[in-house]
Amino acid sequence: MKSCVTIVLGLQWGDEGKGKILDVMAAEADWVLRAQGGNNAGHTVEIGKEKYVLHLVPSGILRSDVSCLIAGGAVVDPAGLVKEIEGLTKRKIRTRGRLHLAAQAHLVLPHHRAVDQGSEKRRGHGKIGTTGRGIGPAYSDKATRVGLRAGELALAPAELARRLRERVAAHNRVARNQGWEKISATQTVREMAQAARFLRPYLADGVTLAHRAVSSGKRILIEGAQGTFLDVDHGTYPFVTSSHCTAGGACTGTGVPPTAIQRVVGVLKAYTTRVGGGPFVTEDGTLGHLLHGMGREFGSTTGRARRCGWFDAVLVRRAVQLNGVTEMAITNLDGLDGLEKIPVCVGYRLKGRILSEPPVESSDWARCKPVYRVFDGWCEPTTEARHWKDLPRKARIYLSAITELVGAPLGIISVGAGREQTFRHG
Ligand code: IMP
Repeated sequence: MKSCVTIVLGLQWGDEGKGKILDVMAAEADWVLRAQGGNNAGHTVEIGKEKYVLHLVPSGILRSDVSCLIAGGAVVDPAGLVKEIEGLTKRKIRTRGRLHLAAQAHLVLPHHRAVDQGSEKRRGHGKIGTTGRGIGPAYSDKATRVGLRAGELALAPAELARRLRERVAAHNRVARNQGWEKISATQTVREMAQAARFLRPYLADGVTLAHRAVSSGKRILIEGAQGTFLDVDHGTYPFVTSSHCTAGGACTGTGVPPTAIQRVVGVLKAYTTRVGGGPFVTEDGTLGHLLHGMGREFGSTTGRARRCGWFDAVLVRRAVQLNGVTEMAITNLDGLDGLEKIPVCVGYRLKGRILSEPPVESSDWARCKPVYRVFDGWCEPTTEARHWKDLPRKARIYLSAITELVGAPLGIISVGAGREQTFRHG
């Protein structure tokens, strides 16, 4: 039976509105699989007056007939996941039997957070601006083959405690020298034993579940977290996260092979934002001031004000190539509603040359100056639009130009947080 597998991922630096787009697309899905990342992510979904912020649980959980998997490529903070599930239960969202946690996913433990936060402090001005959730150190342990995996939560309590104590002892041996906080093994064991009891019923072999869904013809969405330029290989290294946020990562993270993928939906904002450090060619303080003043662009995980800038076509064109985007979903168009002029970056100027592709080195990237093409703003609200033809003519011109500049078709347009403020192009 032929399944339909769609990857949904971010084409900028995260926070593109993937949660909202996934929620809308999940109306026609059987499964949502979260491929990578951890509770550094914050996917916001608004349904009527209710607002949900999901960190690890796939956005599909808000549709009662959708099954969800946190796949093996993700890293899971057990206590954080318990809290998230409890929050959903309080709001009458059923998770038992619908939400599955891959035994292959690596655990984020308290000492990972200590390393993340301690290392950032040490970096001073050169800090990455991580979320402090321990994501990088958990992926480091995975790569150096000393990490614990979610499946180990099902071990006999004494054996789980032994493995945890060993990891905490290894951390504490070097903590002082490195400037990391020391961690209590007893507290870690207690916290993990509690989380293990709660999470055991959710554990599953993630790869078998995903393949059963594929081979039985289910409609599957693979949910990417963060965004293309936070990818550890393809992002603005070292100002990146530690997982693969691109389409390849969706396959390795879930175990669904590339040959099973039919569509890649790239989500992007009508402008650009990023949180944390690193190059940002089109950053513009005035635009940031305006958007923050509208109550927009505050991080849903850390509450930090996001850095804001104009749409960067050089960046998104590269993201379209990297991910093999078959269709784009553009969000936050309404954020530009009040502007008379809207610049779009069509090239980078570096050392007297004009680049149409981003440079390899972050230090060069940070030196690039934007080459802008300026569009007329539409200066009227788009939030009530429900069809392409409802949009002001100048907004249609802006969207069509972006589409042409980045080289992928526009499929979905979003003009507000509500499910109903979403429509298809054309
Ligand atoms: P980490 O993932 O916490 O290690 O943070 C590394 C970089 O990725 C920092 O710049 C974070 O601000 C950024 N980052 C991580 N997760 C997200 C996200 O979900 N949205 C936007 N930025 C993120």
